Order: sequence, then structure tokens, then C-alpha cells
Amino acid sequence: MKITSTADQYGLVAVVLHWSIAILIVVALASGFAADTIGRDAHDVLRVHATAGLLTALLTIVRIGWWLVADTRPAADEDRLRRLSAKAVHVLLIIIPLGMAASGIGMMVATGAGELLLAGTPDPLPNFEKVPPRAPHGAGALALLALLVLHVVAALYHQFIMRDGLIGRMWFSNRR
Ligand code: HEM
Ligand code: HEM
Repeated sequence: MKITSTADQYGLVAVVLHWSIAILIVVALASGFAADTIGRDAHDVLRVHATAGLLTALLTIVRIGWWLVADTRPAADEDRLRRLSAKAVHVLLIIIPLGMAASGIGMMVATGAGELLLAGTPDPLPNFEKVPPRAPHGAGALALLALLVLHVVAALYHQFIMRDGLIGRMWFSNRR
């Protein structure tokens, strides 16, 4: 498998970044909703959440740099509507996680929860609803979840209805 992408296959770096970020986002979404449900005793869950969220943002920045500097995406879908909608969803799947990390850091700074979690103090967590970044963070999480469902349904549609082997393009295969 090549390091960079070819006309019909994503390269090793793109595949590793895609699946690492995918796992981190699923962890961030699950731990975020769990933290919200648990409330003011969610210290450990929130530590996992902030770590997954920050790593997601870091790898997303690496991903943007990789595409800008070193790699070119494989040929896109021939159908114009499918090509444009895939492009729009992919761009949002890159931008929204960055906004999530920014608003997440904003909440930590505005409430002082970052210090509390780093110091390991057992004091109850602050009420995040009181700071402005909480609302866009919650809305962004729902938008991200909806886009992710759309993205996965599209991948499954290609794989099992169109039978064009699309998921194999984003996997560790030895196709040229
Ligand atoms: C969990 C199940 C997922 C599946 C089955 C899946 C599947 C795929 C496939 C098959 C492609 C290649 C499309 C093509 O050939 O043009 C792709 C591309 C892409 N996916 Fe996913 N994906 C998943 C999760 C995610 C997540 C969580 C994100 C969020 C960041 C994401 C973001 C992207 C982006 C941005 C691309 C465009 C290529 C790139 O920039 O790396 N995917 N995905
Ligand atoms: C891709 C990155 C991220 C995703 C997908 C994400 C997702 C979520 C979700 C789903 C929730 C619950 C929303 C709700 O129930 O309304 C949440 C809440 C929260 N997130 Fe994130 N988040 C991310 C990054 C971060 C980062 C980097 C931090 C901190 C540095 C952070 C801090 C928080 C806090 C403090 C809450 C509020 C918890 C509560 O209300 O009890 N998030 N996040």
C-alpha cells in the first residue's frame, strides 16, 4: 500500500488518519453525552472526553495539512449531485470537530473546570450551561452526529447497493 493516495485508493496516511479520527470522534460523542447525563460528578468521563476531543482536533489539523501539502484525493463519484453532497459532508466533518474543540476549551477556561480536572480535586464540576460556548457545543454535537449517520449510510449505500467497493478505497488494501 502506498503512503500517498492513487486515483482509486486512499493512501496509508489518509487511511490511518481517517480511522483514528473516526474512533476518537465516536469516543468524544459517547463520553460527551455521558458526561452531560452524569452531571457534576462526571470527572473521569470528562477527562476521557476532553482528551479524545483534543486529540481529534490535533489529528484534524494534521489531516488538513496532509491534504494541502502532500496528497491528492482519489477520483470522486461521477454523479454530480453525489459528488457535491459528499464534498459538503466531508468538509463539515473536518470543520465541525475544530469548532467543537474550540468551544470545549472555551467552556473549560470560562468555568475553571480545566484546572479542577488537571489538579484532580474532587469538588463538584461547575454548571457548564452557564457559559456561552455550551450552547454551540451541544448544537455542534447534534450536527456532527447527524452528518456522521449520513456519511455512514452513504458509505453503506455505495458498498451494498451500488456495489462499487467504496469502503475498500478507505482501507488498508494493496489495490493500486
Ligand atoms: C464510522 C464509520 C465511517 C465509515 C464507514 C466511513 C467511510 C468512509 C469512506 C468509505 C470514505 C471514502 C469516500 C470516497 O471514496 O470518496 C470516507 C471518507 C471520509 N470520511 Fe469517513 N467513514 C466513517 C467515519 C468518519 C468520521 C467519524 C469522520 C469524521 C471526521 C469521517 C470523515 C471523512 C472524511 C473527511 C472523508 C474524506 C477523505 C478524507 O479527508 O480523509 N468519516 N469515509
Ligand atoms: C470532536 C470533539 C468533541 C466532540 C464530538 C464533543 C462532543 C460533546 C457532546 C456530545 C457533549 C454533550 C452535549 C449535550 O448533551 O448537549 C459534550 C459536552 C461537553 N464537552 Fe465536548 N466534544 C468535543 C470536544 C471537547 C473538548 C476538546 C472539550 C474540553 C477541552 C470538551 C468539553 C465538554 C464539556 C465541558 C461538556 C459539557 C458537559 C456537561 O454538560 O456536563 N468537549 N461534548
